[in-house]
Amino acid sequence: MIPLCIPEIKGNEWKYIKECLDTNWVSSSGKYVDLFEERFKNYIESSQAVVTMNGTSAIHLALRVLGIGEGDEVIVPSMTFIASVNPILYVGAEPVFVDVCKDTYVMDISKVESLITEKTKAIIPVHLYGNMVDMEPLIELAEKYNLYIIEDATEGLGSEYKMNDGIWKKAGTIGHIGCFSFNGNKLITTGGGGMLVTDNIDLGRKAKSLSTQAKVVEDNNAFFHDDIGYNFRMPNILAAMGLAQLENIEEYISAKKEHARVYDEMLKNIEGISLSKELKNEKRCFWLYALVIEDDFGKSRDELILEMKKNYIETRPFFQPIHKMKPYKDFRCGNLCVTEELALKGINLPSSVGLKKQEIYKVCQVIQNI
Ligand SMILES: Cc1ncc(COP(=O)(O)O)c(C=O)c1O
Repeated sequence: MIPLCIPEIKGNEWKYIKECLDTNWVSSSGKYVDLFEERFKNYIESSQAVVTMNGTSAIHLALRVLGIGEGDEVIVPSMTFIASVNPILYVGAEPVFVDVCKDTYVMDISKVESLITEKTKAIIPVHLYGNMVDMEPLIELAEKYNLYIIEDATEGLGSEYKMNDGIWKKAGTIGHIGCFSFNGNKLITTGGGGMLVTDNIDLGRKAKSLSTQAKVVEDNNAFFHDDIGYNFRMPNILAAMGLAQLENIEEYISAKKEHARVYDEMLKNIEGISLSKELKNEKRCFWLYALVIEDDFGKSRDELILEMKKNYIETRPFFQPIHKMKPYKDFRCGNLCVTEELALKGINLPSSVGLKKQEIYKVCQVIQNI
C-alpha cells in the first residue's frame, strides 16, 4: 500500500526520547518542553509559543484567551477538519460557516463580510492542505470590524505568505494567534501534540497558564489556581520527539515541494483534472497534495478512489461540508456552493515526506490509465 501520509522518523527522535526515559523526565517537567517551544518560536518567527496536547486544544485555548464565549459568533470555513469548529462550541460560542475558493480550497474572503454581525468576535482562516488563505484582505476586514483572527495553521506549517509590504510571513504568525498540530500525519509529529503561537506577550502568558491548570506553586510547594484552566500541556517525552522532528523541517518541506512538482508535471495534461496553482503571494508547504476531478474526467472522484484502492494506493476525499452534518446544520451560513462541489470532486493523493518518485509515477500512471 502507498499510504496517504505517514511520519518521517530519521533524526534524533530515539536519542532524545531515550534521554527522557533514562533520566525519568517523561512527564510535565524536563528540558524538552522549553527547548521545543523555544526552537519552534525561532523557526516560526513568533515571540511566544505554548505547546499543547494537540491542535484542537491549541484552538480551544486561543478562543479562551481571547475571551470568546456565549453569545459570540466565529466565522470559519465549512470545508475543514472538524477540529477547526468544535472548539468554538466548547467555549459556548457559535460557528458561522463561510465558503471556500474553487481553485485554492481555502476561505473565500469576498464572502466573509456579508456574514459579519455585531455578535461576530473572531474569524478562523484555515490554511487547508498547506494552501494559504489570502490574509491581507482578511486583516483589513478584521480591523474594520474589530475582530480577532485565529489562524488554523495545523496543515500550513512551513507555508508562507507575502504581506503588502513585501515581507514573507509564515502561516500562523499573521493573525493574533496561530495554532498548529503535531498529529501523526502532519509535517512534523509528536504522535499527538499542538502549539499555540502569538506575538502578544499577555496572550502567550495566559495561554501557558490556562494550558497548565492555571497552577500557581507557592514557596511550600502548595498549588493554587487563579483561573479555571485545562490539562492541555505536552509531556516532556513528546516534546523531545517534536524537537528532533523540527530539526529536519526544512528537508521535509523541500521533499513535499518536490513531490508536488512531480505530481503537477505528470497530471497537468490529463483531461478532467483541475490542479491548484500556487499563488504569487504564497509559498506552499504542500502538506497534502490535492486536486479536483471534474465531470469530464470520465469517472467520478469516488470511482477513482476505489480504483486507487484496488491498486494499493491510499487516497482521501476532501473534507465533507460540516454545515450539513447533524450537530452543525442549524448554525448560520452563507452560500456554500463551492464547498459542496469540492466535497464531491476533491481528492488528496499520497504525500508522505518519504514518498519515492517511483510511487508518484505509479499513482499518476493509475490515474492516467483510468
Ligand atoms: C484543519 C485542522 N484543524 C485542526 C486539527 C486538529 O489537530 P489535532 O488532531 O492535533 O487535534 C487538524 C488535524 O488533525 C486539522 O487538519
